[in-house]
Amino acid sequence: MTTTPALVICGASGDLTGRLLLPALFHLEQTGRLPALEIVGFAVEKWSDDDFRNHCRERLVSFAPGFCDDLWRRFSKRLSFVSGDFSPGGTAALGKAIRGDAVFYLALPPRIFADAARGLAEAGLHRGAGVTRRLVVEKPFGTDLASAKALQASLSEHWSEDQVLRIDHFLGKETAQNILVFRLANGFVEPLLNSKTVEQVQITAAETLGLEGRVSYYDGAGALRDMIQNHLFQLFTLAALEPLPVLDADVLREHKVEVLRAVRPIARDQVDRFFVRGQYAAGTSGGESVAGYLDEPGIRPGSTTETFAAAKLWVDNWRWRGVPFYLRSGKRMASSLTEVAFQFREPPRTFFREVMDDRIEPNWLVFRIKPDETIELVAFAKKPGLSIETRAVELKTPYRSADEIEFAAYEQLLLDAVEGDRSPFIRYDEVEYAWRLLDPVLEAWKQGKPEPYAAGSAGPAAADRLLEPGHRWRPLG
Ligand code: BG6
Repeated sequence: MTTTPALVICGASGDLTGRLLLPALFHLEQTGRLPALEIVGFAVEKWSDDDFRNHCRERLVSFAPGFCDDLWRRFSKRLSFVSGDFSPGGTAALGKAIRGDAVFYLALPPRIFADAARGLAEAGLHRGAGVTRRLVVEKPFGTDLASAKALQASLSEHWSEDQVLRIDHFLGKETAQNILVFRLANGFVEPLLNSKTVEQVQITAAETLGLEGRVSYYDGAGALRDMIQNHLFQLFTLAALEPLPVLDADVLREHKVEVLRAVRPIARDQVDRFFVRGQYAAGTSGGESVAGYLDEPGIRPGSTTETFAAAKLWVDNWRWRGVPFYLRSGKRMASSLTEVAFQFREPPRTFFREVMDDRIEPNWLVFRIKPDETIELVAFAKKPGLSIETRAVELKTPYRSADEIEFAAYEQLLLDAVEGDRSPFIRYDEVEYAWRLLDPVLEAWKQGKPEPYAAGSAGPAAADRLLEPGHRWRPLG
């Protein structure tokens, strides 16, 4: 029995727990950031506390870069284990073990989110006199509008919206948070981000990785559900939202929803004008030959799952009217690059007419997440010398100096969940508006098939058809 706040990890024997959650908690311990907290593993295995500790130790040795035995001895004292499942009565033992404030983290396959929420509530774990209970739900939240609504209906039978923390790990990334901070903390940035000065915005999440053993999840899900509906839409709303008057979870989420509501809806018969999908064929990645998607082990023959998706969104509000937001994400691309890039409109060139040819590149303000976390401004300055010539200069700064600690996205989010900060979590209406925009695309994509692109390339050539005249996709690296 415990009254120290508890983090209960449902799915404690699984991959997410071992690869991401435990290392994040361990690093928070290492940096002295983990508050008084018991970590309770919950899973079907018939483990003792010691069995669970052994399992955690083994995972940490593999996945926690700073693993050391001294720290482990301290960390392991926080760990305990309860065996059970979400069948009737399966959570009774957990119900007896948890008495104080608790966060229940559903590190589980999405198909059992609803059962888990119900099972926890059956044991009375969703509420208690004088205690706070929260439920962390991993992505994906539904696979379309109808399934998201159904999941929400099940969760809300027992858990209130204030208790549910829908996770999107991109919101725990420094850069995602810095888009907001850099925009709002600098008097010279925010006034520039609107249709008067911005020509286009490109949001990219390109990965060289393939499926990484996640075939059963990915085949049928695809890039639109895996990346665009959640991670890229989050970056998009942060890039496009109106300045917040105060930093408050509900105000922030309200502003993000306003962006989604301002996006011009796409009719099913217009999908091809606004969305492009691709699927990687054989090619090279990291200098090695790799198989095409359809030849990956476990992929359904003839699968039409897209491994690349690109979109053009118009935000029909006063700030952004006429500025296209291009989003793209793909697996097995030429490089790993994640960024939000604003291109500014060109200044009049008459001043340079005599001295410059037409190779004038645009100015960009780039918030980069991968390969390195930087803010970058591509500008033009005079080339040193006796004549008036320009050259591009990059004003580039990393977020962190070498002596500053790097916290992974999950560390930030676990801490926020435990401390009850809801701002980096997604409110249900955000999920619903995102699916509303994408449902016609999912419908349209039930027919036809994705465009092939060679592994190691920049995606299918068809993505170019989304571009407005004079626009080009930013190079991948
Ligand atoms: C996950 C997706 O949510 O995000 C993966 O399911 C993707 O397919 C990953 O690879 C990308 O996250 P990150 O933090 O590595 O950019």
